Amino acid sequence: MHGSIFVFLKRYIESTYDYSTWVKLMESTGIDRISYQMQEMYPTRELTQIIGAVSSLSGNQAHEVQEQFGAFLVPDLLMIYKKYVLPEWTTYDLLLHAESNMHGAVRSQDTRTTPPILSVNKVSSRLLVIDYHSRRRMASVGIGIVKGIAAYFNESDKVTVSSITSPDAERVQLRVEFGE
Ligand code: HEM
Repeated sequence: MHGSIFVFLKRYIESTYDYSTWVKLMESTGIDRISYQMQEMYPTRELTQIIGAVSSLSGNQAHEVQEQFGAFLVPDLLMIYKKYVLPEWTTYDLLLHAESNMHGAVRSQDTRTTPPILSVNKVSSRLLVIDYHSRRRMASVGIGIVKGIAAYFNESDKVTVSSITSPDAERVQLRVEFGE
């Protein structure tokens, strides 16, 4: 997994807790490093271990931690990939282009990356169904990302995301509804 995601995970832990919590969490996982580099690649296993350690520390389930982390990621991700976001877009438009523009750019900028394959289906102007497919089984991060995108566009009050199928699977269907 791309180093940026680890850099943002560290930032998430430092902003939710503090730096000493990050150090303690890393010690508890047994991972032999104290920081991550933006342009390196790291085993996904380390991300899962760190999220598991946050879950034990906070008492929140791992999928809740994944979701919170996903929402936290969005402003940083959009800062890096903002040239792929058109100024007139809303949550709906960004989600429609998440695979072609965002994950497409991630893959072509660094061929070592393997972002999940998202098939975004336009059911109506008020409903998108996202088919997520990844062996990493991190759809809950995706749920958080959708919430983070809605917050980014000040649309949290009208965007509702839920998982139609079990969020822990390799293939997951997410339902994103747009209210008034
Ligand atoms: C806002 C635009 C987005 C950007 C810039 C972005 C970027 C990225 C990047 C850089 C990675 C790491 C890939 C790797 O190292 O292989 C990633 C992973 C991921 N993305 Fe996106 N993404 C975006 C939107 C979304 C959306 C809308 C979802 C919703 C389902 C999503 C779900 C995920 C998940 C769950 C992962 C973790 C890895 C996995 O499950 O295989 N992303 N994304």
